[in-house]
Amino acid sequence: MIRTNLTKTLKLTASAALIMGAANAATADSNVEVMHWWTSGGEAKALDVLKADLESKGISWSDMPIAGGGGDNANTVLRARVTAGNPPTAAQMLGYAILDWANVDGALGNLNAAAAKENWDAVVPKALQKFAKHDGNWISAPVNIHSTNWMWFNKSALDAVGGKAPTTWEEFVAVLDGMKANGITPLAHGGQAWQEATIFDAVALSLGDDFYTSAFIDLDPAALGGAKMLEAFNRMAKLRSYVDDNFSGRDWNLASAMVIEGKAGVQLMGDWAKGEFLNAGQVPGKDFVCVRFPGTQGAVTFNADQFAMFNVSDDKKASQLAMASSVLSPEFQSAFNVVKGSVPARTDVSDAAFDDCGKKGIADLAEANSAGRLYGSMAHGHAAPDAIKGALYDVVTAHFNGEYSSEEAVQELVAAIDAAK
Ligand code: BGC
Repeated sequence: MIRTNLTKTLKLTASAALIMGAANAATADSNVEVMHWWTSGGEAKALDVLKADLESKGISWSDMPIAGGGGDNANTVLRARVTAGNPPTAAQMLGYAILDWANVDGALGNLNAAAAKENWDAVVPKALQKFAKHDGNWISAPVNIHSTNWMWFNKSALDAVGGKAPTTWEEFVAVLDGMKANGITPLAHGGQAWQEATIFDAVALSLGDDFYTSAFIDLDPAALGGAKMLEAFNRMAKLRSYVDDNFSGRDWNLASAMVIEGKAGVQLMGDWAKGEFLNAGQVPGKDFVCVRFPGTQGAVTFNADQFAMFNVSDDKKASQLAMASSVLSPEFQSAFNVVKGSVPARTDVSDAAFDDCGKKGIADLAEANSAGRLYGSMAHGHAAPDAIKGALYDVVTAHFNGEYSSEEAVQELVAAIDAAK
């Protein structure tokens, strides 16, 4: 339903922008205006790698940062910009949101020239192409692959409870209890719907690949309303008992800082968290430990940041294509993702420059992909369209904040997803 509205609202505006674009084709504009939500310390450092890369190629950068992890705020601002007939050159975007824009006639540009020259079809994983291409045309440039089923431990805090990273739910609960007894906040958490949903990805995956797939990808009401979903909500309630009193509204990077500073034991977050640890000068294996959420080693819930390219005026098209080429170059993919915490969006980039967590991320992704255990992240827009994601956010966060019992949350989830379909 939302997609249809978006389509109707934007169709005319986008076509108008197209016509204006053709009329303005006179002189080339070497500037790119880029909308994104990379505003934390680690994210900003990664973005600097991109800006410097483009500047070295004569492309200047107009920054349009919209704070808000997960990108919901950015999407809202983007709609307003496009509706006003003034799209940015490129916008950071996730999964199904890209396809929503692709369905708006004339809204997105076409990157086929860059893709053909550099053979993106052969090197970009199919799981990403699903969102980067529409009707056979490349519409966005994949920047990276993140994944959500990670845990980030403070090494000293983990050592203080025996030093072994938990691999089962029971072991995890024991570790969290031990941290509580040691007087620190066990779980560093920021109370925002997308952060709760990020944890929910991992909790759901830990209850089985079949469960994750049938609930989040197939949206099967039996799985959404079944015993495993009840267990997932019960586990979320248990995790809620390990957060501090000030968790509400906290940004994710401030939760990372609690782990970095040893005030908290662990954060359950996608691997963009690693960017914060690195930015604070910390070293994997020495200061922090990265492991998969208990019971999920071997499977990966992924989300890939892409720069969706808008249908800009003709004078801007050359720099847009140049930006897309730069983003997909093997050198940039290595340099950027080493800093960002993610792994390359191409299969042919060496892991040599990556730290141990990055090497593990690359190996885990390859293993999950070849085992058929690579799944789109529900929390980050790669499992189901955004209307469904939003419905899940509402229920998961209401439950986390005590508005529903686990039993009620299961019922609400079935109803909310049904209504959003
Ligand atoms: C994006 C990451 C970003 C994170 C927090 C995720 O949705 O994929 O690139 O770092 O949100 O802002």
